[in-house]
Amino acid sequence: MNDTIKTIMNRKSVRKFSPKSISKEDVKTILQAGMSGPSCVNSRCWSFVVVQDKDKLQKMADANVKYADPLRGAALGILVCSDLSRTEFFANAREFWVIDGAIAAQNMILAAESLGIGSCWLGTWPVEERVNNQTALFGLPEHIVPHSVIAFGYPAEDVPYGSRAGRPEWDEDRVHWEKW
Ligand SMILES: Cc1cc2nc3c(=O)[nH]c(=O)nc-3n(C[C@H](O)[C@H](O)[C@H](O)COP(=O)(O)O)c2cc1C
Repeated sequence: MNDTIKTIMNRKSVRKFSPKSISKEDVKTILQAGMSGPSCVNSRCWSFVVVQDKDKLQKMADANVKYADPLRGAALGILVCSDLSRTEFFANAREFWVIDGAIAAQNMILAAESLGIGSCWLGTWPVEERVNNQTALFGLPEHIVPHSVIAFGYPAEDVPYGSRAGRPEWDEDRVHWEKW
């Protein structure tokens, strides 16, 4: 198994982090990975709000209302946003922005994993209250939609593989060979 495949297979959500901060270089690498995914008609319609300030991380957790405690001890929170002003070229299928945002989020998670940095995806869109709260917290302009928050940090827990999801290594039931 090569290193890329190992990174993908070993990734799991980490919810408890050590106080160690993440270097600026690694933060930039993570962001660049987010900007390296495919996007609908190359719209690159994402933007990222990068937070390392401890007080702001608490406010970000509050804004996501529920299940956002991983952010409270995180070294870094990134709010993935979508810029709707960049979606005019696919105005008949604007919802593609959601997919572009998800790809950016997952790319950052995998880049972090490869650097030994754990992460947890915290869903924001389409929960209206979370969208409104993150918009207010960061003063997002009208054409910017908050998509997801990702909490990052060095793991302070050894999450056993697939422990929360009961994730099997291979699930034959999910695969339909040549026909359904
Ligand atoms: C769209 C989305 C939203 C999620 N929201 C949350 C969340 O609000 N809080 C949380 O602790 N985990 C959240 N997760 C993480 C999932 O709970 C986790 O990925 C799942 O249980 C599988 O576990 P694993 O990531 O360790 O494989 C979210 C994941 C996704 C993809």
